[in-house]
Amino acid sequence: MGFGMIQTQLIVATIAALGLVSACSGGSPATAENPRTAKFKAIAKANKAIGEELKKAAPSMPAIMANAETLDVHARELPGWFPGTTGPEPGIETEARAAIWERPTEFKAAAHKFATATAALKSAAATGDLAQVRSAAAGIGPSCKSCHDSFRQKK
Ligand code: HEC
Repeated sequence: MGFGMIQTQLIVATIAALGLVSACSGGSPATAENPRTAKFKAIAKANKAIGEELKKAAPSMPAIMANAETLDVHARELPGWFPGTTGPEPGIETEARAAIWERPTEFKAAAHKFATATAALKSAAATGDLAQVRSAAAGIGPSCKSCHDSFRQKK
């Protein structure tokens, strides 16, 4: 008996399986989408919209409230965007510093500071009092910066 049909099929199946495995593990590492990029862009957009609204002669409270809400939701979710205990996901472009995983308590505190500022802005917007909104909005930028200073490495 020579090399039978069954053996040939097995070999073909094995080669196909190996091909799939290498296609998955190989790939092009640095092209995966950073799952945080869109979220931080949404944060930056909402923050900018608030600043622009406040430059107008008659800022719209509902517009400020909607953007404050966006910031607040993202601020609360933010710590969960950096999973794991060792460092950033392999194969993505990231500006995340190792310090996020090395000093998780400090990182969470920075996220909490941001969430406190966004909550204060929501409360201020709810009063409808422009002076309160301006003062609360002034607290947002520094909370971005203090986290970035320690935990983001700009590319
Ligand atoms: C608790 C920490 C923290 C806070 C607070 C924070 N950021 Fe960031 N931000 C980061 C980190 C870390 C990255 C890098 C993420 C990555 O590349 O994986 C980042 C990335 C960004 C980016 C780059 C997105 C891109 O294009 O890749 C922008 C823009 C940004 N943040 C804006 C803001 C603004 C505006 C605020 C406040 C309204 C803010 N961030 C608050 C930690 C924070």
